[in-house]
Amino acid sequence: MSHEVVEKNIGLMVIFILIVVSFGGLAEIVPLFFLDQTTKPVEGLKPYTALQLEGRDVYIREGCYVCHSQMIRPFRAETERYGHYSVAGEFVYDHPFQWGSKRTGPDLARVGGRYSDEWHRVHLMNPRDVVPESVMPGFPWLAENKIDASKTPLKMKTLRTLGVPYTDEQIANASKEVEGKTEMDALIAYLQGLGTAIKTRR
Ligand code: HEC
Repeated sequence: MSHEVVEKNIGLMVIFILIVVSFGGLAEIVPLFFLDQTTKPVEGLKPYTALQLEGRDVYIREGCYVCHSQMIRPFRAETERYGHYSVAGEFVYDHPFQWGSKRTGPDLARVGGRYSDEWHRVHLMNPRDVVPESVMPGFPWLAENKIDASKTPLKMKTLRTLGVPYTDEQIANASKEVEGKTEMDALIAYLQGLGTAIKTRR
């Protein structure tokens, strides 16, 4: 009888379905907030330096994530190509993380140290100068734009409220660190740090 009421009332049915589905979701999601594996930084993970942090903002602004993921899946085909698969503890200081799923270009989760700074500079100016078949666009303006050093300490302070352990000293020195640097310098510093907290074969 009461079952019939639910079956004949689509509004009620929708509400019950949402309740049931949300239980499934909660059972999967809630534990992740309490597991060390997902909330503790991996050993050796450091918060981004002021320059890397500015580079990360350039990465987001330019939409690099539209073509690049930062998440190596635990499959042989991935680990052979990119190195150790990504683990949650590598990303605890990322707000927001840049995992993504779209791969027009290669995954960048462990690109740090794979190329020289100079390679990146040439590649970002015009990718075809080093990879002739590349379809990646050039970003030459990054070499001319200067970082706005007045904002860096504020960004770090904000991240600190989210749990990134920046010291007062790091925040006080932030503007000096990025002063006069170009967006290209910052982006390369960011790329060179990616995935380096975990030792890999490379
Ligand atoms: C339209 C898609 C596209 C966009 C946007 C894009 N890339 Fe790429 N990227 C590629 C492709 C395709 C490759 C592979 C060919 C090459 O090396 O140029 C690549 C390669 C790379 C590589 C070399 C990776 C490796 O392991 O060899 C780096 C580093 C890189 N991109 C960084 C960036 C950054 C930083 C940005 C944003 C400023 C960016 N890309 C934006 C498509 C893109």
